Amino acid sequence: MRPNNKITKAVIPAAGLGSRLYPATKVQAKEMLPLGLKPVIQMVAEELVASGIRQILIVTGRKKRAIEDHFDPNEGLPEGQQIDDWGHQWEQMGVRFSYTRQSRPRGLGDAVLQAQDFVGDEDFVVALGDCAIVGGLQPITERLIQTHLQQAAAASIAVQRVDAAQTNRYGIVQLAEPQSQPWRLADIVEKPGPQHAPSNLAVCARYVLSPAILSYLKTTTPGYGSEIQLTDAIRALLADGAQAYAIPLSEKELRLDVGNFNSYARGFVRAVLDDPEIGSQFAQYLQRLAAYLENSDNPDPDQ
Ligand code: G1P
Repeated sequence: MRPNNKITKAVIPAAGLGSRLYPATKVQAKEMLPLGLKPVIQMVAEELVASGIRQILIVTGRKKRAIEDHFDPNEGLPEGQQIDDWGHQWEQMGVRFSYTRQSRPRGLGDAVLQAQDFVGDEDFVVALGDCAIVGGLQPITERLIQTHLQQAAAASIAVQRVDAAQTNRYGIVQLAEPQSQPWRLADIVEKPGPQHAPSNLAVCARYVLSPAILSYLKTTTPGYGSEIQLTDAIRALLADGAQAYAIPLSEKELRLDVGNFNSYARGFVRAVLDDPEIGSQFAQYLQRLAAYLENSDNPDPDQ
């Protein structure tokens, strides 16, 4: 059922332990790691709000309380301080945040299942809280929602091409008819690796799902990594004849994720370079630093 033919609810799973980022995430949520000045989860929420989402449920767990504080409207800042007051703006736009907990780390599928009461009988977005997608003309979530509604799909999923060697790090989709757009899915498999990957199109942190997925999640048994995988529930939905679609990121779109130290470091530097105030100065600094690291006869920009 799709009241008003639009999608206004989103779930942000943010309960992962962040163990690949210790000690940075020993006591804080990886979703609160900043890319430049903004925590990555704020960038995710900005994308959702720009895509028409007005109710956001964040699935938290241990170490995640700062996320709840973060999305409160800004109060008590020194008078006259210039801030980007998105908190009050979103409040006026009717954007509402709520929180629930995944009390045991049982996987992404189990985290989404915690949203059952929130979702009710409406189609909804799932946006992973550790991954921002930037640089597109239109937010990827908005494009997913459009295709999802146009096709009356059961699932619509953002994808991105990856190297074959990386197919052990992502859900990988198989297309039914690669020549015809939008891409309809034949199958999806979690982290198959190069030997078994049906393509190199990787699931990329954004989904639009029909509430039917919840009953599939309830019967999904632990899969890859002994966790309940959202991918496996979507696979079961497809096997029952449901229609699902894959929407690719555009060439200009970049996935900035904090899932591991390498991707976090790159995402942080990209975000700083994009900053309107310090970006160009910082780019010059990086050039001077690179020149110094290549040849220590060049001046050290930090001396
Ligand atoms: C999750 C999903 C996977 C997807 C990835 C990136 O994996 O299970 O299918 O490709 O996010 O969006 P994780 O990175 O949490 O192991």
